[in-house]
Amino acid sequence: MARGFSQKRAAKLVKKTIRDFDLRGKRVLIRVDFNVPLDKNLNLTDDTRIRATLPTIKYALEHGAQVILMSHLGRPEGRPVSTMSLSPAAKRLSELLHQEVIQCSDCIGPRIKEELSRLKDGVSVALLENLRFNPNEEKNDPAFSKALAEHGQVYINDAFGSSHRAHASIEGITKFLPSGAGFLLEKEIQYLGEALKNPKKPFMAILGGSKVSDKIGVVENLISKVDKILIGGAMAYTFLKVQGVGIGSSKFEKDKLDLAKTILEKAKENGVEILLPVDHGVVQKVDAAAPLKVEGPSISPEWLGVDIGPKTVQLFSGALASAKTVVWNGPMGIFEMKPFAKGSYEIALKLSELKGAVTVIGGGDTAACVMGFGLQDKMTHISTGGGASLEYLEGVELPGIAALEDK
Ligand code: 3PG
Repeated sequence: MARGFSQKRAAKLVKKTIRDFDLRGKRVLIRVDFNVPLDKNLNLTDDTRIRATLPTIKYALEHGAQVILMSHLGRPEGRPVSTMSLSPAAKRLSELLHQEVIQCSDCIGPRIKEELSRLKDGVSVALLENLRFNPNEEKNDPAFSKALAEHGQVYINDAFGSSHRAHASIEGITKFLPSGAGFLLEKEIQYLGEALKNPKKPFMAILGGSKVSDKIGVVENLISKVDKILIGGAMAYTFLKVQGVGIGSSKFEKDKLDLAKTILEKAKENGVEILLPVDHGVVQKVDAAAPLKVEGPSISPEWLGVDIGPKTVQLFSGALASAKTVVWNGPMGIFEMKPFAKGSYEIALKLSELKGAVTVIGGGDTAACVMGFGLQDKMTHISTGGGASLEYLEGVELPGIAALEDK
């Protein structure tokens, strides 16, 4: 069982939700994020985002609606690309719902309207074809939004992962239909929002991944809220370089050294402790088969860091032991290569063992990393959004949420 905030503590969503509409006999247009990973044979390799929308779809059906789903997949640049069809997602959804999912060959036009006119209340689920096959989706073209809106009578956004995009099916469409949030969107806002607005203290952030520049917005937003920031991944080398620690041939951002310095100073001013790696897993070549050794605090010339080392795991775990809220965004090393995944695994394990703490995992790589270790059920919340959760943690108002009707 995932551990969570009590209902009483959960942040209230000020936007309407699916519960605020009478759905009986209505065509409900639900924006989902079925931008799912596919292998080279177009087999779906992770269905998390599809599973995450089931509560909303089932609720709509149980309340007598006809369900019309829409999503993008990949970046087809405004033209049909057969490898980016939503067919694999339709197939998987049909398996999960144990019922037929009508797959439309396009997303607008008279033929699609005709297909959708045959849907049955409380029974039918249809999935429109990839919205980004039409260039007007990403342009947020009002005529395209209107054409989509004509398929439904109520619009529900359950695509948290896409809510940072002001696109026609996410933002524009709300001008043409009554709109609200689905259960997934509501849950994401509750957990990420609560962590930012009302965290149980001590509140700690773990930041990793390759670039300082990717996380600067998050650091700026969190620095006045957190007690500690633990930094791993390649972005740590830019900070270590600023402190004069030898980083060998490790990847760092030369043009972000000043920024890293400013962050360290700002943290000091705010009384926020920044913990950096004190040892590292190092190799001479980024190759899973390359000889790996532990070095620290400095890295020898010609060696490069690919993971945090055991002393750093100890340091970070010690700090985390007292945490009551933790937000983790960015892996601790190149976790995709098994020999370099140890640090990320140890940190994930530590989070999974924290008693009475709220643990929120930013989406994208960090979610993939935690799921790869099979620890997803031990976290309070794993976001389904990559870029969206990053922007949310930066404190940015996501256009897909802002556009929904207020209660
Ligand atoms: C994601 O996977 O982050 C979302 O589906 C958004 O996709 P995009 O970055 O192509 O807009």
